[in-house]
This record gives sequence, C-alpha cells and structure tokens, in this order.
Amino acid sequence: NDEKAQYIEKIKLLLIEKNAVLVAHYYTDPEIQALAEETGGCVADSLEMARFGKQHSAETLIVAGVKFMGETAKILTPEKTVLMPELEATCSLDLGCPIEEFSAFCDEHPDHTVVVYANTSAAVKARADWVVTSSIALEIVDMLESEGKPILWGPDRHLGSYIEKETGAKMLMWQGACIVHDEFKANALRDLKLQYPEAAVLVHPESPANVVEMADAVGSTSQLIKASQDMPNTHFIVATDKGIFYKMEQANPGKTFVAAPTGGNGATCRSCASCPWMAMNGLKSIHDALVSPVGKEINVDENLAAQALIPLNRMLNFAA
Ligand code: 13P
Ligand code: SF4
Repeated sequence: NDEKAQYIEKIKLLLIEKNAVLVAHYYTDPEIQALAEETGGCVADSLEMARFGKQHSAETLIVAGVKFMGETAKILTPEKTVLMPELEATCSLDLGCPIEEFSAFCDEHPDHTVVVYANTSAAVKARADWVVTSSIALEIVDMLESEGKPILWGPDRHLGSYIEKETGAKMLMWQGACIVHDEFKANALRDLKLQYPEAAVLVHPESPANVVEMADAVGSTSQLIKASQDMPNTHFIVATDKGIFYKMEQANPGKTFVAAPTGGNGATCRSCASCPWMAMNGLKSIHDALVSPVGKEINVDENLAAQALIPLNRMLNFAA
C-alpha cells in the first residue's frame, strides 16, 4: 500500500545518505527481505549475517533480526554504528540463559570446553570457548569431540540433542528452547505427511527430537533453503518460522511449501510458526532507526566485547 511504498522509498534514500546497509534475517517480513536485497544488503542465516556485516564497507549496519544478531555485529565491527529497528526484539534462548546462572554452571565443570549457540547474550558468549550457529555446530562439535574434550553445551537442548546424536558426543547441557520451534508436533506431522506423501520434510534443528527424526533435511535457515532447491521434490513440509517461505517460494517457482503443524490436530497453520521478536521488525521501525538512532543503537561493553570476540572469531575462522 501507499504508506509502505513511501517508507520503502525513504529508507532507500536514508541508507545512501547515512552510508548504511540493511542486514536482514530470513524470518523478517518479506518486504524487509526484499528491501535488503534490492539495496545491496543481505538476507541470510545468522552465520552469513555476521560475515556480511563484518565484510561490508558501510559505516552503519542496520540489523533486522533479534538482539543477539545486533550484538554479534557490534562485537565483530566495533568501529561501525549498529542499529536495530527494535532493541526489545530478543530470543527465548537468550532470555533463558542468564549469565550468572550459566557462568555458575560452567564454573562447576572447569574441565569442560564451553560451546554456546549464537542465540545468546554477549556476556554468555564472553564466557564461552566456542560460539556456533546452527549451520556450523555439527562440524565444530565433531572436531572438539575428535580431540577428546568434554563439552558443556548451551542453551538449546534440542539442537544439543541433535548434535549429540549426529556426532556421538555426550555433552553437559543447558535446558533452553526456542518457543517457536519447540511447538512443532511429531504426531501431527505424521498425519500431514499422509496428506502429502511425496513431500520432503525440512526441519530446523531447534525443533524437538521426534520432529527432527522425521526430517529429510535438517539445517540452518540458509541450508534449508538450499535443500529446497537441491531436492527434486515438488512439495515440502517446512518446520521453521514462516518467514522462510518468502525466499523458498521465490527460489523455487512451481514448488509447493506447506507449514509443519504446531498443534496436535494435523491442521497446517501458517500463522503459528512465527517468532514474536522477529515480527517486531517493520518498515517504520527501520525508517525511524535511520532517522534517529536514539534508543536504537546496539552497544556492547568493551571488555565483554573483547572477550566475546575470541570464540566468535574461532567460529568464523573455522567456517572460512
Ligand atoms: P539460523 O542461523 O538458522 O538462521 O537460525 C537463527 C534462529 O534464530 C533460528 O531460530
Ligand atoms: Fe530465538 Fe526462536 Fe525467535 Fe529464533 S525463532 S530468534 S531461536 S525465539
């Protein structure tokens, strides 16, 4: 509509004026993803967002996603201004892993290598030996496991269980979960598969183990999009935030994508699999952040940032 079109035009001008670039996650609204692509920014998974922000020459990054993504960008590029449309946009994994308690858990197991998921605060990252995203977690834990190191993992218990199963590692685990992926239901998925017997099942590893077990492909958002392109199937059942449908449908004309059920009745529900914090990002809030950064700028304590940079760089170097 008119108002949206106006915001889009204003944002395009502001990005140029402020030497800024828009870095968006696949779970944000389609109009934000489209705008990021159109203006030379990126739409990506959390590892690629971190890489893109680090490599881009813009003075300002505007990160449309959730808080940990903005913090990661700031830690990797402290010289840049990092803005977020909505500073209150957080993540249940981050909220469920307060630094005091997590640090005490680590202190109880000083012989363990601490591996944390990127969906955590800067303070939790600063306490870790390694940071991983869902796209690189398996490889990193596999490497640590082959070195025979005992591992303490946090905070996502489902991703942790999936890694254990795939790598054979036995990890001490923090018991966090993503409120979005935790809702996918295996029984209802089984029923839905009967309706779409030819469909391949794509699952983000933050989903419960019995849902992951039914997957034909498991991976980060980028990896799931790639799987939708690489697999010959014409139908897919997708267990992750519905924001991903925009890119999957765009990349696969003629293929059909169905949301995995979040309820117990087998009904597909496109509005259920939606992260409330990702949904806080909007065109108006992006516009407002660019006009006035007050209350929209990410800052990370310098000492904490220096400490968190070590495990983050380990991940980026490993992934390179
Ligand atoms: P990805 O790294 O797969 O994009 O995941 C981020 C996230 O928050 C998933 O819920
Ligand atoms: Fe966090 Fe889940 Fe939202 Fe991803 S979808 S940002 S893991 S709450």
